[in-house]
Amino acid sequence: METTLNGSRRLLALCVALIGCCCCCSLAAAELQLPNASNIKDLNELGAHYLPAGYGPANVSLADLQRLLEQKCAKANAALPASEVNATKLSDDIQQAGGRLMECLNGLANITVVLDEVERARPLGDLDVVFEKYCLRLPQARQCLTDFNAVLLPCLTREERQHNAVMQRIIGKLLDFVCYKNGDQIALFIAEQGPECLEQHKDNVGRCLEKSFGHYMPSQLNISTVELPELVLGSRQCTELHDFENCVVRHLENCTNITPSNIVESMFRYVRKESNCQQVVDRVTRDHSEALTQRAGAAPSWAHSAGAAAATITLALGLAVM
Ligand SMILES: *[C@@H]1O[C@H](CO)[C@@H](O)[C@H](O)[C@H]1NC(C)=O
Ligand SMILES: *[C@@H]1O[C@H](CO)[C@@H](O)[C@H](O)[C@H]1NC(C)=O
Ligand SMILES: *[C@@H]1O[C@H](CO)[C@@H](O)[C@H](O)[C@H]1NC(C)=O
Ligand SMILES: *[C@@H]1O[C@H](CO)[C@@H](O)[C@H](O)[C@H]1NC(C)=O
Ligand SMILES: *[C@@H]1O[C@H](CO)[C@@H](O)[C@H](O)[C@H]1NC(C)=O
Ligand SMILES: *[C@@H]1O[C@H](CO)[C@@H](O)[C@H](O)[C@H]1NC(C)=O
Repeated sequence: METTLNGSRRLLALCVALIGCCCCCSLAAAELQLPNASNIKDLNELGAHYLPAGYGPANVSLADLQRLLEQKCAKANAALPASEVNATKLSDDIQQAGGRLMECLNGLANITVVLDEVERARPLGDLDVVFEKYCLRLPQARQCLTDFNAVLLPCLTREERQHNAVMQRIIGKLLDFVCYKNGDQIALFIAEQGPECLEQHKDNVGRCLEKSFGHYMPSQLNISTVELPELVLGSRQCTELHDFENCVVRHLENCTNITPSNIVESMFRYVRKESNCQQVVDRVTRDHSEALTQRAGAAPSWAHSAGAAAATITLALGLAVM
Protein backbone atom coordinates (compact mmCIF):
# COMPACT_ATOMS: atom_id res chain seq x y z
CA MET A 1 0.00 0.00 0.00
CA GLU A 2 2.64 2.44 1.14
CA THR A 3 5.02 1.90 -1.76
CA THR A 4 2.20 2.17 -4.26
CA LEU A 5 1.09 5.47 -2.87
CA ASN A 6 4.64 6.75 -2.87
CA GLY A 7 5.00 5.45 -6.37
CA SER A 8 1.98 7.36 -7.61
CA ARG A 9 3.36 10.44 -5.98
CA ARG A 10 6.70 9.91 -7.65
CA LEU A 11 4.91 9.70 -10.97
CA LEU A 12 3.34 13.04 -10.27
CA ALA A 13 6.71 14.32 -9.15
CA LEU A 14 8.23 13.24 -12.41
CA CYS A 15 5.49 15.04 -14.34
CA VAL A 16 5.92 18.10 -12.17
CA ALA A 17 9.66 17.97 -12.60
CA LEU A 18 9.29 17.61 -16.34
CA ILE A 19 6.83 20.45 -16.61
CA GLY A 20 8.95 22.49 -14.25
CA CYS A 21 12.11 21.88 -16.18
CA CYS A 22 10.87 22.66 -19.63
CA CYS A 23 8.22 25.17 -18.75
CA CYS A 24 7.66 27.75 -16.13
CA CYS A 25 9.99 28.43 -13.28
CA SER A 26 7.74 31.37 -12.51
CA LEU A 27 4.79 29.05 -12.31
CA ALA A 28 6.57 26.82 -9.83
CA ALA A 29 7.75 29.82 -7.88
CA ALA A 30 4.26 31.24 -7.71
CA GLU A 31 3.00 28.00 -6.24
CA LEU A 32 5.32 28.30 -3.29
CA GLN A 33 3.31 31.12 -1.85
CA LEU A 34 0.45 28.94 -0.60
CA PRO A 35 1.94 27.37 2.49
CA ASN A 36 -1.01 25.54 3.88
CA ALA A 37 -2.91 23.97 1.07
CA SER A 38 -2.26 20.32 1.80
CA ASN A 39 -2.01 19.50 -1.90
CA ILE A 40 0.78 21.95 -2.36
CA LYS A 41 2.56 20.58 0.63
CA ASP A 42 2.43 17.16 -0.94
CA LEU A 43 3.64 18.51 -4.23
CA ASN A 44 6.42 20.39 -2.57
CA GLU A 45 7.51 17.30 -0.73
CA LEU A 46 7.52 15.49 -4.03
CA GLY A 47 9.47 18.21 -5.70
CA ALA A 48 11.85 18.38 -2.76
CA HIS A 49 12.69 14.75 -3.30
CA TYR A 50 14.16 15.57 -6.69
CA LEU A 51 15.63 18.93 -5.83
CA PRO A 52 19.10 19.56 -4.44
CA ALA A 53 19.13 20.64 -0.79
CA GLY A 54 18.54 24.33 -0.42
CA TYR A 55 15.87 24.51 -3.13
CA GLY A 56 12.98 23.43 -0.93
CA PRO A 57 10.20 25.86 -0.07
CA ALA A 58 11.80 26.29 3.36
CA ASN A 59 14.66 28.15 1.73
CA VAL A 60 12.59 30.42 -0.48
CA SER A 61 10.63 33.10 1.32
CA LEU A 62 7.76 35.19 0.01
CA ALA A 63 10.06 38.20 -0.03
CA ASP A 64 12.56 36.31 -2.19
CA LEU A 65 9.80 35.38 -4.56
CA GLN A 66 8.55 38.94 -4.77
CA ARG A 67 12.05 40.20 -5.47
CA LEU A 68 12.75 37.57 -8.12
CA LEU A 69 9.52 38.29 -9.93
CA GLU A 70 9.92 42.03 -9.72
CA GLN A 71 13.41 41.77 -11.08
CA LYS A 72 12.20 39.64 -13.94
CA CYS A 73 9.29 41.94 -14.76
CA ALA A 74 11.54 45.01 -14.69
CA LYS A 75 14.10 43.34 -16.92
CA ALA A 76 11.53 42.17 -19.46
CA ASN A 77 10.17 45.71 -19.75
CA ALA A 78 13.50 47.50 -19.64
CA ALA A 79 12.93 48.94 -23.12
CA LEU A 80 9.76 50.77 -22.04
CA PRO A 81 9.83 54.15 -20.30
CA ALA A 82 9.98 53.59 -16.54
CA SER A 83 6.77 55.57 -16.05
CA GLU A 84 4.84 52.98 -18.06
CA VAL A 85 6.02 49.98 -16.06
CA ASN A 86 5.17 49.07 -12.48
CA ALA A 87 7.16 45.91 -11.87
CA THR A 88 5.80 45.68 -8.33
CA LYS A 89 2.25 45.59 -9.63
CA LEU A 90 3.10 43.07 -12.36
CA SER A 91 4.76 40.88 -9.76
CA ASP A 92 1.79 41.19 -7.37
CA ASP A 93 -0.53 40.25 -10.21
CA ILE A 94 1.46 37.11 -10.96
CA GLN A 95 1.42 36.03 -7.34
CA GLN A 96 -2.31 36.57 -7.11
CA ALA A 97 -2.84 34.72 -10.37
CA GLY A 98 -0.67 31.90 -8.98
CA GLY A 99 -2.99 31.68 -6.00
CA ARG A 100 -6.04 31.61 -8.26
CA LEU A 101 -4.42 28.94 -10.41
CA MET A 102 -3.84 26.69 -7.43
CA GLU A 103 -7.36 27.24 -6.14
CA CYS A 104 -8.73 26.51 -9.55
CA LEU A 105 -6.74 23.28 -9.96
CA ASN A 106 -7.47 22.21 -6.39
CA GLY A 107 -11.14 22.66 -7.12
CA LEU A 108 -10.86 20.33 -10.09
CA ALA A 109 -8.67 17.66 -8.52
CA ASN A 110 -7.54 17.41 -4.89
CA ILE A 111 -4.41 15.33 -5.25
CA THR A 112 -4.84 13.63 -1.87
CA VAL A 113 -8.32 12.54 -2.91
CA VAL A 114 -7.22 11.46 -6.39
CA LEU A 115 -4.45 9.31 -4.93
CA ASP A 116 -6.86 7.71 -2.46
CA GLU A 117 -9.27 6.94 -5.28
CA VAL A 118 -6.47 5.45 -7.36
CA GLU A 119 -5.43 3.30 -4.40
CA ARG A 120 -8.95 1.98 -3.98
CA ALA A 121 -9.63 1.47 -7.68
CA ARG A 122 -6.38 -0.25 -8.51
CA PRO A 123 -7.02 -3.70 -7.06
CA LEU A 124 -10.52 -3.65 -8.56
CA GLY A 125 -9.24 -2.77 -12.03
CA ASP A 126 -11.34 0.38 -12.00
CA LEU A 127 -8.59 2.87 -12.69
CA ASP A 128 -10.14 3.92 -15.98
CA VAL A 129 -13.26 5.07 -14.13
CA VAL A 130 -11.19 7.34 -11.87
CA PHE A 131 -9.21 8.87 -14.70
CA GLU A 132 -12.23 9.31 -16.89
CA LYS A 133 -13.86 11.37 -14.15
CA TYR A 134 -10.89 13.70 -13.89
CA CYS A 135 -10.10 13.82 -17.58
CA LEU A 136 -13.59 15.13 -18.26
CA ARG A 137 -12.51 18.21 -16.30
CA LEU A 138 -9.57 18.82 -18.60
CA PRO A 139 -11.13 21.78 -20.45
CA GLN A 140 -11.56 23.65 -17.15
CA ALA A 141 -7.95 22.86 -16.19
CA ARG A 142 -6.78 24.29 -19.50
CA GLN A 143 -8.75 27.44 -18.83
CA CYS A 144 -7.08 27.85 -15.42
CA LEU A 145 -3.67 27.58 -17.06
CA THR A 146 -4.58 29.97 -19.86
CA ASP A 147 -5.77 32.56 -17.35
CA PHE A 148 -2.56 32.28 -15.38
CA ASN A 149 -0.43 32.48 -18.47
CA ALA A 150 -2.12 35.69 -19.58
CA VAL A 151 -0.91 37.37 -16.39
CA LEU A 152 2.57 35.95 -16.83
CA LEU A 153 3.04 37.28 -20.37
CA PRO A 154 3.75 40.96 -19.52
CA CYS A 155 6.80 39.82 -17.56
CA LEU A 156 8.33 37.81 -20.37
CA THR A 157 10.81 39.07 -22.92
CA ARG A 158 9.86 38.96 -26.58
CA GLU A 159 11.90 35.81 -27.05
CA GLU A 160 10.35 34.17 -24.01
CA ARG A 161 6.91 35.00 -25.33
CA GLN A 162 7.61 33.07 -28.50
CA HIS A 163 8.82 30.12 -26.48
CA ASN A 164 5.87 30.53 -24.17
CA ALA A 165 3.54 29.72 -27.04
CA VAL A 166 5.46 26.49 -27.62
CA MET A 167 5.42 25.68 -23.92
CA GLN A 168 1.68 26.26 -23.75
CA ARG A 169 1.32 23.77 -26.55
CA ILE A 170 3.60 21.32 -24.76
CA ILE A 171 1.62 21.52 -21.53
CA GLY A 172 -1.53 21.04 -23.56
CA LYS A 173 0.00 18.01 -25.24
CA LEU A 174 1.12 16.55 -21.90
CA LEU A 175 -2.42 16.88 -20.60
CA ASP A 176 -3.71 15.34 -23.81
CA PHE A 177 -1.27 12.50 -23.39
CA VAL A 178 -2.26 11.82 -19.80
CA CYS A 179 -5.92 11.96 -20.77
CA TYR A 180 -5.64 10.14 -24.08
CA LYS A 181 -8.81 8.02 -24.36
CA ASN A 182 -9.90 9.45 -21.02
CA GLY A 183 -6.79 8.41 -19.15
CA ASP A 184 -6.10 5.05 -20.77
CA GLN A 185 -2.34 5.61 -20.80
CA ILE A 186 -2.02 6.69 -17.21
CA ALA A 187 -4.33 3.90 -16.05
CA LEU A 188 -2.19 1.44 -17.98
CA PHE A 189 0.96 2.93 -16.49
CA ILE A 190 -0.34 2.40 -12.97
CA ALA A 191 -1.81 -1.02 -13.67
CA GLU A 192 1.49 -2.18 -15.16
CA GLN A 193 3.52 -1.33 -12.04
CA GLY A 194 4.72 2.02 -13.38
CA PRO A 195 4.75 3.63 -9.93
CA GLU A 196 6.76 0.72 -8.50
CA CYS A 197 9.18 0.98 -11.39
CA LEU A 198 9.70 4.70 -10.75
CA GLU A 199 10.04 4.05 -7.04
CA GLN A 200 12.68 1.44 -7.70
CA HIS A 201 14.68 3.87 -9.84
CA LYS A 202 13.99 7.10 -8.00
CA ASP A 203 17.65 7.64 -7.20
CA ASN A 204 18.64 6.99 -10.79
CA VAL A 205 15.98 9.40 -12.05
CA GLY A 206 17.30 11.97 -9.59
CA ARG A 207 20.79 11.45 -10.96
CA CYS A 208 19.51 11.80 -14.54
CA LEU A 209 17.88 15.08 -13.55
CA GLU A 210 21.09 16.26 -11.93
CA LYS A 211 23.18 15.20 -14.91
CA SER A 212 21.00 16.92 -17.51
CA PHE A 213 19.77 20.00 -15.70
CA GLY A 214 22.00 20.26 -12.63
CA HIS A 215 24.05 23.07 -14.14
CA TYR A 216 20.99 25.32 -13.97
CA MET A 217 21.04 24.93 -10.21
CA PRO A 218 24.29 26.01 -8.59
CA SER A 219 24.97 23.87 -5.53
CA GLN A 220 25.63 26.97 -3.44
CA LEU A 221 22.27 28.62 -3.88
CA ASN A 222 22.24 32.18 -2.64
CA ILE A 223 18.62 33.21 -2.92
CA SER A 224 19.49 36.88 -2.45
CA THR A 225 21.63 36.97 -5.58
CA VAL A 226 19.98 34.38 -7.80
CA GLU A 227 18.02 35.47 -10.89
CA LEU A 228 15.26 33.60 -12.66
CA PRO A 229 16.65 31.96 -15.80
CA GLU A 230 15.36 32.73 -19.28
CA LEU A 231 12.32 30.58 -19.84
CA VAL A 232 13.17 29.29 -23.25
CA LEU A 233 13.29 25.93 -24.98
CA GLY A 234 16.22 26.45 -27.31
CA SER A 235 18.37 23.82 -28.97
CA ARG A 236 20.45 23.50 -25.84
CA GLN A 237 17.42 22.75 -23.66
CA CYS A 238 16.06 20.32 -26.26
CA THR A 239 19.31 18.42 -26.18
CA GLU A 240 19.28 18.36 -22.40
CA LEU A 241 15.70 17.13 -22.38
CA HIS A 242 16.57 14.37 -24.80
CA ASP A 243 19.58 13.47 -22.71
CA PHE A 244 17.31 13.27 -19.69
CA GLU A 245 14.83 11.12 -21.61
CA ASN A 246 17.48 8.63 -22.67
CA CYS A 247 18.82 8.42 -19.16
CA VAL A 248 15.41 7.84 -17.56
CA VAL A 249 14.20 5.38 -20.17
CA ARG A 250 17.43 3.41 -19.98
CA HIS A 251 16.90 2.91 -16.26
CA LEU A 252 13.19 2.17 -16.44
CA GLU A 253 13.86 -0.47 -19.08
CA ASN A 254 15.45 -2.48 -16.30
CA CYS A 255 12.12 -2.96 -14.52
CA THR A 256 10.53 -6.39 -14.81
CA ASN A 257 7.69 -4.87 -16.80
CA ILE A 258 8.66 -2.97 -19.95
CA THR A 259 5.35 -1.08 -20.30
CA PRO A 260 6.16 1.80 -17.91
CA SER A 261 9.38 2.56 -19.77
CA ASN A 262 7.50 2.49 -23.09
CA ILE A 263 4.83 4.84 -21.80
CA VAL A 264 7.37 7.29 -20.42
CA GLU A 265 9.24 7.18 -23.71
CA SER A 266 6.14 7.86 -25.75
CA MET A 267 5.30 10.76 -23.45
CA PHE A 268 8.69 12.32 -24.19
CA ARG A 269 8.25 11.67 -27.90
CA TYR A 270 4.87 13.35 -27.81
CA VAL A 271 6.40 16.44 -26.24
CA ARG A 272 9.33 16.47 -28.63
CA LYS A 273 7.10 16.37 -31.67
CA GLU A 274 5.10 19.29 -30.39
CA SER A 275 8.10 21.55 -29.94
CA ASN A 276 10.95 22.22 -32.33
CA CYS A 277 12.97 19.75 -30.29
CA GLN A 278 12.53 16.93 -32.78
CA GLN A 279 14.53 18.88 -35.39
CA VAL A 280 17.31 19.58 -32.94
CA VAL A 281 17.49 15.96 -31.84
CA ASP A 282 17.50 14.74 -35.46
CA ARG A 283 20.33 17.11 -36.28
CA VAL A 284 22.39 16.06 -33.28
CA THR A 285 21.88 12.38 -34.04
CA ARG A 286 22.80 12.93 -37.71
CA ASP A 287 25.89 14.95 -36.88
CA HIS A 288 26.86 12.36 -34.36
CA SER A 289 26.72 9.51 -36.88
CA GLU A 290 28.54 11.66 -39.47
CA ALA A 291 31.26 12.30 -36.95
CA LEU A 292 31.48 8.57 -36.34
CA THR A 293 31.80 7.70 -40.02
CA GLN A 294 34.54 10.27 -40.44
CA ARG A 295 36.25 8.60 -37.51
CA ALA A 296 37.13 12.05 -36.36
CA GLY A 297 37.53 12.80 -32.69
CA ALA A 298 35.99 16.23 -33.24
CA ALA A 299 32.63 17.29 -31.87
CA PRO A 300 29.73 17.70 -34.34
CA SER A 301 30.03 20.85 -36.42
CA TRP A 302 27.24 22.84 -34.80
CA ALA A 303 28.72 22.33 -31.37
CA HIS A 304 31.72 24.48 -32.26
CA SER A 305 29.54 27.54 -32.51
CA ALA A 306 27.38 26.60 -29.58
CA GLY A 307 30.21 26.72 -27.09
CA ALA A 308 31.93 24.33 -24.77
CA ALA A 309 28.91 23.57 -22.62
CA ALA A 310 26.83 22.52 -25.59
CA ALA A 311 29.66 20.36 -26.85
CA THR A 312 29.83 18.57 -23.55
CA ILE A 313 26.12 17.95 -23.59
CA THR A 314 26.32 16.72 -27.16
CA LEU A 315 29.00 14.26 -26.18
CA ALA A 316 26.94 13.10 -23.24
CA LEU A 317 23.97 12.72 -25.56
CA GLY A 318 26.14 10.88 -28.06
CA LEU A 319 27.15 8.43 -25.37
CA ALA A 320 23.53 8.03 -24.33
CA VAL A 321 22.47 7.34 -27.93
CA MET A 322 25.18 4.70 -28.24
C1 LIG B 1 -1.81 28.58 7.52
O1 LIG B 1 -0.77 29.53 7.38
C2 LIG B 1 -0.86 30.57 8.33
C3 LIG B 1 0.22 31.58 8.01
O2 LIG B 1 1.07 31.15 6.99
C4 LIG B 1 -0.70 29.99 9.73
O3 LIG B 1 -0.83 31.01 10.68
C5 LIG B 1 -1.77 28.94 9.96
O4 LIG B 1 -1.57 28.32 11.22
C6 LIG B 1 -1.74 27.89 8.87
N1 LIG B 1 -2.85 26.98 9.05
C7 LIG B 1 -2.70 25.66 9.02
C8 LIG B 1 -3.92 24.85 9.16
O5 LIG B 1 -1.59 25.13 8.87
C1 LIG C 1 -8.13 17.63 -0.09
O1 LIG C 1 -8.94 16.62 0.44
C2 LIG C 1 -8.63 16.30 1.78
C3 LIG C 1 -9.45 15.09 2.16
O2 LIG C 1 -10.80 15.29 1.87
C4 LIG C 1 -8.92 17.50 2.66
O3 LIG C 1 -8.62 17.22 3.99
C5 LIG C 1 -8.08 18.65 2.17
O4 LIG C 1 -8.41 19.82 2.90
C6 LIG C 1 -8.30 18.91 0.69
N1 LIG C 1 -7.34 19.90 0.27
C7 LIG C 1 -7.72 20.99 -0.37
C8 LIG C 1 -6.64 21.94 -0.71
O5 LIG C 1 -8.87 21.22 -0.69
C1 LIG D 1 17.99 25.57 3.45
O1 LIG D 1 17.39 24.34 3.73
C2 LIG D 1 18.23 23.42 4.38
C3 LIG D 1 17.45 22.15 4.55
O2 LIG D 1 16.66 21.90 3.42
C4 LIG D 1 18.68 24.00 5.72
O3 LIG D 1 19.56 23.09 6.34
C5 LIG D 1 19.36 25.32 5.49
O4 LIG D 1 19.69 25.90 6.74
C6 LIG D 1 18.47 26.26 4.73
N1 LIG D 1 19.20 27.48 4.41
C7 LIG D 1 18.66 28.69 4.57
C8 LIG D 1 19.51 29.84 4.19
O5 LIG D 1 17.52 28.84 4.97
C1 LIG E 1 2.97 50.19 -8.30
O1 LIG E 1 1.92 49.32 -7.89
C2 LIG E 1 1.76 49.18 -6.50
C3 LIG E 1 0.62 48.24 -6.24
O2 LIG E 1 0.89 46.98 -6.73
C4 LIG E 1 1.50 50.52 -5.86
O3 LIG E 1 1.45 50.34 -4.44
C5 LIG E 1 2.59 51.49 -6.21
O4 LIG E 1 2.27 52.76 -5.70
C6 LIG E 1 2.77 51.56 -7.73
N1 LIG E 1 3.90 52.41 -8.04
C7 LIG E 1 3.84 53.41 -8.91
C8 LIG E 1 5.08 54.17 -9.12
O5 LIG E 1 2.81 53.68 -9.50
C1 LIG F 1 24.34 36.06 -0.57
O1 LIG F 1 24.56 37.23 -1.32
C2 LIG F 1 24.51 38.43 -0.55
C3 LIG F 1 24.62 39.61 -1.49
O2 LIG F 1 25.71 39.47 -2.35
C4 LIG F 1 25.63 38.40 0.49
O3 LIG F 1 25.58 39.56 1.28
C5 LIG F 1 25.45 37.17 1.37
O4 LIG F 1 26.52 37.06 2.26
C6 LIG F 1 25.38 35.90 0.51
N1 LIG F 1 25.03 34.78 1.37
C7 LIG F 1 25.68 33.61 1.32
C8 LIG F 1 25.20 32.56 2.26
O5 LIG F 1 26.61 33.43 0.56
C1 LIG G 1 20.15 -2.85 -15.04
O1 LIG G 1 20.29 -3.91 -14.09
C2 LIG G 1 21.58 -4.54 -14.11
C3 LIG G 1 21.52 -5.71 -13.15
O2 LIG G 1 20.99 -5.31 -11.91
C4 LIG G 1 22.63 -3.50 -13.70
O3 LIG G 1 23.89 -4.09 -13.73
C5 LIG G 1 22.58 -2.35 -14.69
O4 LIG G 1 23.48 -1.35 -14.27
C6 LIG G 1 21.17 -1.77 -14.75
N1 LIG G 1 21.14 -0.75 -15.77
C7 LIG G 1 20.54 0.41 -15.59
C8 LIG G 1 20.59 1.35 -16.73
O5 LIG G 1 19.97 0.71 -14.56
